[in-house]
Amino acid sequence: MRPRQRVSLAGAGLAALVVAGALFWSGERAGPAQAGLQGAALWRGTLPLTARIAGHAHALPPVAARCINCHGGESGASASASAAGRDPLDGAAPVLTARHLREPTARRGGPPSRYDAAAFCTLLRTGVDPASVLLPRHMPRYEITAADCDALWIHLTGMPA
Ligand code: HEC
Repeated sequence: MRPRQRVSLAGAGLAALVVAGALFWSGERAGPAQAGLQGAALWRGTLPLTARIAGHAHALPPVAARCINCHGGESGASASASAAGRDPLDGAAPVLTARHLREPTARRGGPPSRYDAAAFCTLLRTGVDPASVLLPRHMPRYEITAADCDALWIHLTGMPA
């Protein structure tokens, strides 16, 4: 093999490595990014969820089950500003920032507690919070898959489930 050929072979090998690396990198990042988009759609109700008021046999109309109706349009970082101006004791649905969910906070008279992805999903399904306090009935109970729970969690907290 002539030296020139060897150089171009090495070049091709390097290029292949770069492409493989880029594919690997984008593949790794596509997961959470896609889940975040799905979470945003679930949050806004563009993707519908099935929910009930505790004790009711009939499912709520999907429009009434949208998180955004009660918790507000913003989420994540953009919500922090409006959360700051809201009275946490007024009984309304809280603005769900990453901080509100992740930091130890006394909720509904219980001891300080924080959410992780599993506790978040339990709350959505059963209405029981991380301190084992039952939420009032005006927060609906959701028939939600693990994947949809995780997508909402990623959308709200920016953290992997
Ligand atoms: C019909 C109104 C309504 C809808 C729709 C609704 N929520 Fe709520 N949610 C509430 C209320 C009210 C509370 C607060 C109850 C309390 O603390 O007294 C609450 C509480 C919560 C909490 C607990 C926060 C904490 O600090 O413990 C989480 C998490 C939550 N909601 C997530 C969601 C998600 C995710 C959706 C959509 C899948 C949703 N909610 C839809 C009314 C609603």
